[in-house]
Amino acid sequence: NWTMVNIVDESVAAVQEQIGSKRAICGLSGGVDSAVAAALVQRAIGDQLTCVFVDHGLLRKGEAEQVEKDFVAATGVNLHVVDAQDRFLDALDGVTDPETKRKIIGREFIRVFEAAAREIVGEDAAEPVEFLVQGTLYPDVVESGGGTGAANIKSHHNVGGLPEDLQFRLVEPLRTLFKDEVRAVGEQLGLPAEIVWRQPFPGPGLGIRIIGAVTRERLEILRDADAIAREELTRAGLDRDVWQFPVVLLADVRSVGVQGDGRTYGHPVVLRPVTSEDAMTADWARLPFDLLQRISTRITNEVREINRVTLDVTSKPPGTIEWE
Ligand code: XMP
Repeated sequence: NWTMVNIVDESVAAVQEQIGSKRAICGLSGGVDSAVAAALVQRAIGDQLTCVFVDHGLLRKGEAEQVEKDFVAATGVNLHVVDAQDRFLDALDGVTDPETKRKIIGREFIRVFEAAAREIVGEDAAEPVEFLVQGTLYPDVVESGGGTGAANIKSHHNVGGLPEDLQFRLVEPLRTLFKDEVRAVGEQLGLPAEIVWRQPFPGPGLGIRIIGAVTRERLEILRDADAIAREELTRAGLDRDVWQFPVVLLADVRSVGVQGDGRTYGHPVVLRPVTSEDAMTADWARLPFDLLQRISTRITNEVREINRVTLDVTSKPPGTIEWE
């Protein structure tokens, strides 16, 4: 596709111009955006780029392994993996306010990137890493209040959540693009379909899908429920019909249930499957009832702490896709 060839060529040239012979790091989240941004910058500056994958403890099941396997296999990029679970979970301890969570996660990402950058070049290197590549898209900018006159709906972890004393200069080659264009660029760059067509997943991860404070135990519960929902959606062959399928844990809510002869007093999860073109607006996905039934039965059978499964039938607006 001629337009995409142009976008890729122009972006590559712009990145070369901006970074020159300096070094850059790129945070990989497992999502499409950071993967495409990294692949684009790698095409522009090759080995001057090192990708950093931060395991913040807010990932879904199998996500870390997938990034290491798929992305490195496809691009041969230098990858630096950081286990930062304790750091993020300590920083989030007891925090329930959504914007505060987002700001903390954005800040911790940057602190981890700074430490990783020092490790990559060595503590007293003459030339520190100067650039940080981010897969920021146009809708992220607009909804974080960075567009003209737009309200701050949510601070995206890589836009409104950045600390003020940022040590890096930012490289954001996708900043003017929408998701469908990013996918086209990804295909143009030769990334495999598993990466290009993956459903979006927010950088703050499961941290913004637990309504209430984030704890290891709650993450474990949500991870199990989320894995079941994803598995059943895939098995039903509906991955590409759905834009995204968040599962949200209402961690501070309990309701009474019954299982076998026993009373339970567990937590509800909310299924939030949506269809969308660009995430600026969305509609709730009309998943088949029998699929919803299977997901509900499996979650309540297999995840002990969950005794109720509900469906979010709100479009965006007035709801947003994520609950926080
Ligand atoms: P909302 O919830 O605002 O989400 O309707 C719109 C899209 O953005 C994703 N999202 C994020 N992605 N960092 C990201 O990389 C973030 O901080 C963030 N917050 C929301 C969300 O999953 C949806 O695709």
